[in-house]
Amino acid sequence: MSEIRKQMAQQASQFPEAFWGEAAQAIDWSKPWDKVLNSTNDHDYQWFVGASLNTCYNAVDRHVINGRGEQAAIHYDSPVTQTKQTISYLELQQEVSRIAGGLKQLGVEKGDTVVIYMPMIPQTLYAMLGCARIGAIHSVVFGGFAANELATRIDDAKPKAILSASCGVEGNKILAYKPLLDDAIAQASHKVQHCVIYQRPQQQAELLIGRDVDWQALVEQAPQADCVDVAATDPLYILYTSGTTGSPKGVVRDNGGHAVALAWSMKHIYDIDAGDVFWAASDVGWVVGHSYIAYGPLLAGATTIVYEGKPVGTPDAGAFWRVIQEYQVKSFFTAPTAIRAIKREDPQASLLSLEQLASLKVLFLAGERCDPDTLNWASDTLKVPVIDHWWQTETGWPIAANMMGTDPMPIKPGSPCLAIPGYQVEVLDESGQPVAANETGSVVIKLPLPPGTLTGLWNNPQRYQAGYLARYPGCYLSGDAGYIDEDGYLYIMSRIDDIINVAGHRLSTGRFEEVLCQHPSVAEAAVIGVHDPLKGQLPVGLVVLKQGETIAQSSLYEQLIQLVRSEIGAVASFKKVSVIERLPKTRSGKILRGTMKKIADNQAYKMPATIEDASTLELVESTLSHLGYGK
Ligand code: COA
Ligand code: AMP
Repeated sequence: MSEIRKQMAQQASQFPEAFWGEAAQAIDWSKPWDKVLNSTNDHDYQWFVGASLNTCYNAVDRHVINGRGEQAAIHYDSPVTQTKQTISYLELQQEVSRIAGGLKQLGVEKGDTVVIYMPMIPQTLYAMLGCARIGAIHSVVFGGFAANELATRIDDAKPKAILSASCGVEGNKILAYKPLLDDAIAQASHKVQHCVIYQRPQQQAELLIGRDVDWQALVEQAPQADCVDVAATDPLYILYTSGTTGSPKGVVRDNGGHAVALAWSMKHIYDIDAGDVFWAASDVGWVVGHSYIAYGPLLAGATTIVYEGKPVGTPDAGAFWRVIQEYQVKSFFTAPTAIRAIKREDPQASLLSLEQLASLKVLFLAGERCDPDTLNWASDTLKVPVIDHWWQTETGWPIAANMMGTDPMPIKPGSPCLAIPGYQVEVLDESGQPVAANETGSVVIKLPLPPGTLTGLWNNPQRYQAGYLARYPGCYLSGDAGYIDEDGYLYIMSRIDDIINVAGHRLSTGRFEEVLCQHPSVAEAAVIGVHDPLKGQLPVGLVVLKQGETIAQSSLYEQLIQLVRSEIGAVASFKKVSVIERLPKTRSGKILRGTMKKIADNQAYKMPATIEDASTLELVESTLSHLGYGK
């Protein structure tokens, strides 16, 4: 292990208050903390207790005060609408103050929640920062989710207002957002008072008198709002992510710890200083977008890019290289699936000339396990270090990474490198004992987690306790399985639960199964994540029909695919489903999804000792083989 990292890790674990207290100097506080880390016991702790600050002030206003007003804060680049726009920090301050003022006029106050359902346009960042400015708690819902998923989140977050846009543009499709929003509001029990709609020229939406407000009209007449002080421990946002059941979990992030951790990560992990250009090609609906399109680069006084396009097809597999060149990106972040999409379209990288990448120092990959082939192709092609790093919605910033702004270490393909200082990662066996080097087990993080990680689940302390803290007392359960090698390098191999990862998006098999079971002909369903060379995994469904069902299979499959699309969203990429006579189960009735997945991926598997009926595995083999999986 590098000496510098060893010392940092030791300092962060032995003297967390000194370590994070020093990191907190990068943030402007309106009132200093009484205590850096306040812990009553090992699972009940808070960071920067007694302090107050405003996250929007730190991300926007202070840069204007410090002379960065003219510097680009955001480059908006939208190949799908042929639009480019640069927004300076001063312009950002004005835009954010206006929407913040508009929200206040609509009655949104400190502590209220606001749902944001918007595409990749700068207004989405104005909306997030506008909420932070007045102390409202935002909850961004990814635009690719269907009305039902939005409704679930509205009912959980109970927003005072919803901010949305008339449409999104996905490749060459214009997707009207307003009908989805109206449908979600109709489905939700919580009744929202106001929706603010940003009208895009590609498709305007009809507004509902009394409830809907035109964004432009609102901000034109609203007085600008100032930043309000909030406690460091007050929530900044809620971000829903898939759990093992159908209902999503609302990860809560605080203001103080979040600002400290993100500012620290920009410098130490991503090697970004004020004035540099950082690009995360993700969507603000995901945690990567929250941390590294919106808050991280702006807290650092850097320039961020809002890219409304795809790695391929907008217009071609050279799109990323063009953006890097055009905005002189120093550090770039995307998902392995995006690199695989580019590699598939342009394997020889004929659309890239290395001069385009003159500004680029490093490529970061995350969101799913990065297979060594993808990593090697990217580093051979781009000729910069390619850094796989591991994190989750819950942690909000990397748990393990090669720290490019601190002390870059040798790259081992397949590993996201070492745990970051502040995260004490261990691999445990079933009984809670640490396993030997290179042995696979459950990856956990000893409590307390560092600043910036989740403070709990919205309105659901029991689920937080049961899902993350109860399994191994004193530790946070990551839900991932993996091992640590003799050099301390971590390898994250798979999930231990029923979560699947489709194109870097985390989805719950339980939710798919719930939706499939809504079909009147379906008695029971099992969904597994099968290996896919482009998207990492794809969901595959097996359904058992109700007794006496005579529905034609082709129309059943069409209906089931459509059902998932309309209940979960197109992003679920659900296209493969088949009828099966019976599902393999344990004697206690648990569906053997792990074994089914191994069969689909053509991996060796042991006959589970607890299987109720071994012949069901033959049924699985033949059904999956009809779908093109397995042997
Ligand atoms: N709003 C509405 N619909 C959306 C959407 C959004 N924001 N994002 C995706 N969709 C839709 C797509 O239009 C597509 O619909 P279709 O079935 O009608 O074609 C479906 O959801 C699946 O989209 P996607 O996952 O983007 O697949 P794709 O086949 O269009 O593209 C990749 C494949 C690899 C190019 C794409 O998945 C990609 O860019 N992945 C990178 C993922 C990423 O950045 N993850 C963030 C984690 S770091
Ligand atoms: P999400 O919360 O959507 O960001 O998904 C987090 C999950 O994605 C993790 O728990 C892992 O299962 C997976 N993941 C993310 N990054 C990596 C990585 N670099 N290597 C392996 N798995 C990853």
